[in-house]
Amino acid sequence: MTLPGVLLLDAAGPEAGALARAAAARRHQVHAATTTTAYADYGPELKGLLAGHIVTDFTRPDRALDEIAAYARRRGVGAVLTVNEYLTELTAHLCAELGVPGNDPGRAHAARDKAAMAETFAVAGVRAPYTVLVRDADGLRAALADPSVGFPCVIKPVAGAGSAGVTVVSGPAGAAAAADAARTVAGMYARGGDPGVLVQAYAAGAEYSVESFTQDGNTTHLAVTRKQVTGGANRVETGHSLPVHLTPVVEAAVYREVKAAIRAAGIRHGASHTEVIVSRDGRCSVIEIGARLAAGQIGVLIQHALGVDVWAALLDVALGRPAALAPTTHGYATVRFVTSPRAGRLASLSGLPRVGPGVPFARWRAAIGGPVHEPHANGHRLGSFVVTGPDAAEVEERADTLLREIRIHVEPHPNGPGQVSEASTSAIAP
Ligand SMILES: Nc1ncnc2c1ncn2[C@@H]1O[C@H](COP(=O)(O)OP(=O)(O)OP(=O)(O)O)[C@@H](O)[C@H]1O
Ligand SMILES: [Mg+2]
Repeated sequence: MTLPGVLLLDAAGPEAGALARAAAARRHQVHAATTTTAYADYGPELKGLLAGHIVTDFTRPDRALDEIAAYARRRGVGAVLTVNEYLTELTAHLCAELGVPGNDPGRAHAARDKAAMAETFAVAGVRAPYTVLVRDADGLRAALADPSVGFPCVIKPVAGAGSAGVTVVSGPAGAAAAADAARTVAGMYARGGDPGVLVQAYAAGAEYSVESFTQDGNTTHLAVTRKQVTGGANRVETGHSLPVHLTPVVEAAVYREVKAAIRAAGIRHGASHTEVIVSRDGRCSVIEIGARLAAGQIGVLIQHALGVDVWAALLDVALGRPAALAPTTHGYATVRFVTSPRAGRLASLSGLPRVGPGVPFARWRAAIGGPVHEPHANGHRLGSFVVTGPDAAEVEERADTLLREIRIHVEPHPNGPGQVSEASTSAIAP
């Protein structure tokens, strides 16, 4: 019997690579829908795994839908997946078009566009920060004067990701610049036009995400993840730890909102990543939902802490088969993202953790001699490593020790001002 083919929308990145490997290991033919430039960057291992690929233009989703659907029918595709935040909406439409398990295409926009998300959450009664979509200076002034917004507030792009262009604004003075910064962040496959920017009430509290899988509308929460986030105007996630055990009352409140968000965003078959902020008094606000597995190595954390094969589970859900989601181990895992203490040129990097016992993953993407930035967006991270073990406190302690041992030497940019900096450790969240 021929197994159904598996189609990945964009196969770039570690998560998609792991999915491709898992599908090929189970003898599915693996296909990718990609762009000319993205395909050129696929490594030889990934290219070797693929039974075929279709080059399309994701900036024209209607045309891409027709082209990819025709390709998928020709090649016997029975499951369509993506781990790319920007392609979740197209994936839902494609699943519906092909009649394979997927999310509600009529709601998929709400999981991608934060203006639509805010509206959908408001209608569905999901607790989320009050949000205003503004299109010009008058709109911005009106939003800032709106008593439901107040200060501090958050100004962010409508369809961004990776914390790019998101600013916590403490007073009217910084708002125009923050709106400009948000406006310049277009989604990965955006096509011109001015989508406006969002002005949002600030939710104070601790940040978590909830990693869930939904099959036939039934949701299993795999883990609650605690985030380390930089303070200040531009918040960047510097670490994730899971599983976090909330008190039963707070956990119930968080799961109630997350379930409502999953339903509101039309997530019927697939993974989701819901970011929440929990206030001191235990109230939960949903910051955003993604109709996909979490990025930032959270899949690796789940695998090592809980023993759940998330890649196999994603495949099973996409194929309409029951997924194995029960933990088979009861450990803990954390990832630390290494960031530069200042902007300049990366002169040297040493003391990096290596993969070994208790460190299942380490990846460096910064090039010596290349530019580095103070962390203003996730894209400014230099690399990351994962620590795992049976005791949560020991895992955190080891990760922090390893982080402190990293030496980053940043020199001023050849054309820029400034002094040669002392060697220093990476910036870590307080
Ligand atoms: N309303 C809010 N109240 C408080 N903090 C917020 C709010 N909105 C965003 N933030 C902070 O800014 C960060 C980035 O915001 P958001 O998640 O909306 O952007 P993003 O581009 O989708 O980021 P990512 O892809 O990294 O999750 C959040 O993790 C949080 O620290
Ligand atoms: Mg976010």
